[in-house]
Order: sequence, then C-alpha cells, then structure tokens
Amino acid sequence: MSQKNILITGGAGFIGSHVVRLFVNKYPEYKIINLDKLTYAGNLENIRDIESKPNYKFVKGDIQDKDFLVSLFESEKISHVIHLAAESHVDRSISGPMDFIMTNIVGTANLLEAARSSWKEGDHIFYHVSTDEVYGSLGDEGFFTEKTGYDPRSPYSASKASSDHLVRAYYHTYKLPVKLSNCSNNYGSHHFPEKLIPLMINNIKNNKPLPVYGKGENVRDRPWVEDHARAIDTIFHNGKIGESYNVGGWNEWTNIALVKFLCQIMDRKLNRQPGESEKLITYVTDRAGHDLRYAIDATKIKNELGWEPSIKFEEGLEKTVDWYLQNEKWVNDITSGEYQKYYAAHYNS
Ligand code: NAD
Ligand code: TYD
Repeated sequence: MSQKNILITGGAGFIGSHVVRLFVNKYPEYKIINLDKLTYAGNLENIRDIESKPNYKFVKGDIQDKDFLVSLFESEKISHVIHLAAESHVDRSISGPMDFIMTNIVGTANLLEAARSSWKEGDHIFYHVSTDEVYGSLGDEGFFTEKTGYDPRSPYSASKASSDHLVRAYYHTYKLPVKLSNCSNNYGSHHFPEKLIPLMINNIKNNKPLPVYGKGENVRDRPWVEDHARAIDTIFHNGKIGESYNVGGWNEWTNIALVKFLCQIMDRKLNRQPGESEKLITYVTDRAGHDLRYAIDATKIKNELGWEPSIKFEEGLEKTVDWYLQNEKWVNDITSGEYQKYYAAHYNS
C-alpha cells in the first residue's frame, strides 16, 4: 500500500485540532501535514500534545495563496486532503463577508486546483468538511437529508454551499476523487468562545450578561466534536467517492433551554445558589436572517458506515464545562486582544 501523506487544513481550529489529534495518534503509519493560517480562530495550543510526534508536521500558510499550495503539494507529496480550514462564525460573516468568500470559496478552489494539477493516478481522496447550514432553515418539522436542496441564507452558509458545489463540480468534470460531509453544530473542548456554548460558559463564570438572540427559540442539533472527528475518520476510510454524508447528534435544543441547562450545571460547579446564573440571561437583538432550526437525519452514515453518536449530551456537556473550568489559561489567552474588540463591537452596538 502506498504511503498516505494527508494534508489536513484548519488543524489548529476547533474541529480540525480534534481531527489532527485522532489521525496522528491512531495512524502512526500516515504522515499528517497540518496547514493553518493561524487566524484569530487558529491556536497551536489546541494541538500542543501531539506536536512532537514523528508522523506530524505543522505548516503555517494561507489557502488563499494558490502558488504556495501547488508547491506544498509537490514538496510534501500530498496524496490526500481533509479540508476544514474556513472562516466559521455566522455573525462575523454578516459584519464582514469578504473574508468568508476569499477563504471558503476561493481557498477551496485553490486547494482543488492544487490537487487537480498534482494528482495524476493512484490513491487519492479530497475530503471536504462542510456544514448543514447549506440546507437553509427548517420549520418545526422535518430533517435535512443528503437529498435536501441547498438554500443557504447567511454569507457563511452561502460560502460553504459554494465550496460544496465546486468540490462536486471537480468530481463530475475532472473525476477528482472527492468525499463530503455536512455536520450540525459541534460542541466540546477547544471551541472558540464566540460560539454559543463556550461563550455562555465563559460569561456565566465571569458573571457577565448571557446574550440570547431574539426569544431564544432557534433550534440547533448538537453533536460532540469527538464524535464528528470519528465520523470524519469513518468517511475518509469507508465512505464512497463522489458521495456526501450528513452527520448529526440526534440532539435538538432550543438556545434558551440549552443556556438554562448550562446555568444549572454552572451553579452546581461554582457552588452558586440554584437559579443564580440564570439571572444573567439577557435577551438581545436577533441575528439578521436568523435560521430557525437545523436538524440532521444521519440515517445514511449510520446504515452504510455504522457511525452513530457515542455519548449522551448531558455527559458530553458536563465534560465540556469541566474542560473550560480546568483550562483557564487557554480561555484567558484566547479571550484577550482581538476577542475583546470583537465582543465590544458585536454586543455593545
Ligand atoms: P474554526 O474557526 O475553529 O477553525 C478554522 C481554522 O481554519 C482556524 O484554525 C483558522 O486559523 C484556519 N483558517 C482560516 N482561514 C484560513 C486560511 N485562509 N488558510 C488556512 N487556514 C485558515 O472552525 P471549526 O468550527 O473548527 O470548523 C472547521 C470546519 O468545519 C469549517 O470548514 C466549518 O465550516 C466546518 N463545520 C463546522 C461546524 C461547527 O459546528 N463548528 C459544523 C459543521 C461544519
Ligand atoms: P453559533 O454558536 O454562532 O452557531 P451557528 O450560528 O453556526 O448555529 O450560534 C448558535 C445559536 O445560538 C444560533 O441560533 C445563534 C445563537 N446565539 C445567541 O443566542 N447568542 C450568542 O451570543 C451567540 C453567539 C449565538
């Protein structure tokens, strides 16, 4: 069997760091090259534990730079790609869409071009990691399946939908061996605290207001990030070329119910009176174009590849809260500087 030199993009981010860790530890025979620009969301502390492993290499670089990618494919003899690098926060895509267009669309096109020009024959996979937000918004009923039509509504989801379309176009037009997955809202350790769950944990701890958009009735499905990383491993190895797989947690929560549940956990962990943290909940102006509900039908990956979530949400959330409470330095470092400017501009406007 030929050597696999796997380029994982975005491996210093939230999900990417879990994928890199899993692959580096589970497959010592593969070489893992982690390419990341280290934007505000990228953090080498996320993968400190594996940085000295012999099958791992970190490369700082930008997927917007096609020439750099072409030479990286040649110098590292890249045979496989797992593409996670992206601008990922919906609110930032509303205030500044161009970074999303340049990284998520143009960056993905650059990677596809680098693969197309470098890969001739042999064992190759271009695996694109995407989101369920490409499907748009559900009402109270129904689920997103792999056959649901695309209807993205935020600049973030539109940029991810565009990149999914490009990946499929390279499969149909150039026979590039692609795979895709579309997953719902992950939770777990190393999640940047601009996203709902880590933001709320951090604010509850610091007795700061808990900004719930609108009435808090929007629904998100919540898979555990380590289950998502396992799904990526499963699809990478056993998924069919040219196909996509929906990944989800069978775990829907309204934002307000989730925030109240987090308040209960935090009251217990911080020895507060029951109900004390809930007093911090503050309803704020709704997000523009806020999608009401995301819910995944993950039957295909369960039936065809045998993947399903491994952990109950209550247990995963407890582990997540513990991780944030035990990693104060990580949180403090990441929430200084740029984060404070973003937070002030976003929540005080
Ligand atoms: P993240 O924002 O935590 O991490 C993104 C990483 O990409 C960062 O390390 C960043 O430095 C890097 N990056 C950004 N622009 C880059 C560029 N131009 N060149 C190279 N690196 C760059 O994001 P995440 O939540 O870990 O999401 C990872 C991927 O998974 C994204 O493609 C996202 O669309 C997708 N996804 C996320 C979720 C979720 O719940 N977070 C769900 C489904 C799919
Ligand atoms: P987020 O974590 O940004 O993920 P996404 O927009 O990709 O689903 O938001 C999750 C949900 O939480 C979404 O319905 C918006 C809501 N939300 C708030 O109510 N307050 C906040 O401060 C944030 C960041 C999100």
